[in-house]
Amino acid sequence: MCATTGKQGSPYLKHEGINMAVSDHTNGGLASRAGGLPPEEIIFGRSAAMTSIRQKVQKVLATDVPILIQGENGTGKGLLAQYIHFRSAMSSGAFVKVNCAAIPGALLESELFGYQKGSFTDAHTSKPGYVEMAHRGTLFLDEITDLDLSLQAKVLQLLQDGHFSRIGDKQERQAETRIICATNRDLQTEIEAGRFRRDLFYRINVISINLPSLRERREDIALLADYFLEQLNKRFERDMPAFSEENIESLSSREWRGNIRELENVVARYAILGSLDTVEPEAPRRSSAAPFRVALDGTIPLKRIAKQAIREMEGNLILSALRENKWNRRKAALALSISYRALIYKIREAGLSPKNSRKAAQAKVPRDKAEGLE
Ligand SMILES: Nc1ncnc2c1ncn2[C@@H]1O[C@H](COP(=O)(O)OP(=O)(O)OP(=O)(O)O)[C@@H](O)[C@H]1O
Ligand SMILES: [Mg+2]
Repeated sequence: MCATTGKQGSPYLKHEGINMAVSDHTNGGLASRAGGLPPEEIIFGRSAAMTSIRQKVQKVLATDVPILIQGENGTGKGLLAQYIHFRSAMSSGAFVKVNCAAIPGALLESELFGYQKGSFTDAHTSKPGYVEMAHRGTLFLDEITDLDLSLQAKVLQLLQDGHFSRIGDKQERQAETRIICATNRDLQTEIEAGRFRRDLFYRINVISINLPSLRERREDIALLADYFLEQLNKRFERDMPAFSEENIESLSSREWRGNIRELENVVARYAILGSLDTVEPEAPRRSSAAPFRVALDGTIPLKRIAKQAIREMEGNLILSALRENKWNRRKAALALSISYRALIYKIREAGLSPKNSRKAAQAKVPRDKAEGLE
């Protein structure tokens, strides 16, 4: 029933340490997950902005007041919400994460508040919602601005007195839970546009944390990059050498529009492909964004589009591995974990060569031109 955003947590790192009982709608309800969080020194780093956030967070751990976390994509809102839960008085209960943007409004209501048997056609049994699952724990409402106005009213009531009802149930229930909300949108704009209730804003905004972008905490880049590399070396059983001064300088001067998530991806590429060349501006992309064509009969040829998209992604990866390895195809095959023969076949199929790779990045070249590869 639950949609996946594909953005949650680190895609690469299995943190050691705390055991997390994470209930995440992306896993479809309560799910125990082994793992843990990065150490505190890594989460907060050394920058002034993060040091003051750390102090604020320490003060709220012993309470159950609502917290609002704001920040650009990839700044660590989700990670901070987990940190707060697992270090707080609510850690004996579950950490229940709900991505409000990923579930359509009507469904979200039943997922959040649960329902009684017979309350609608498919309600063959009664089911508790996320609010109940988060009793004595933490309810993390991610992308809160995507809640529609009627659900905002129900969440407001929950925040006011902890009361809620399952759909189709007359009985009023009560949950003791800390509510953490997160958004990367500007809430004032949403309020002025009539999309977000002002009274709800005041309720969720008891403690407000604004996570800085990575550009605003450049002094933490080296620390984070070293940490990611250490973890990724372990995870991928690699032995990539630590970053040099030059590497760090190069990393520190980037824009990082994707913030910590982007840094993590760049370090993962380094750990897998063996070079930081990709820290320079991105290699030209193949035409993955090319608009698809609707067939003459008005249908959308999904299978063909998917196949084409996969082929393009594969081509991008191969191109990137070849460049990383200075077009040494044996090394590139090793980095991609495919056989040398398979790589040669794929290079030919995609029409890649050192000379035409830029062009090939946009359009497939005729096969005979690619035959000239050594
Ligand atoms: N301080 C940190 N230390 C180590 N890893 C971090 C830190 N902050 C974020 N990360 C990692 O960066 C990635 C992005 O973090 P997270 O998903 O929490 O960001 P977000 O702000 O919730 O992003 P979005 O707005 O896209 O949902 C994750 O893999 C997370 O583990
Ligand atoms: Mg998030």
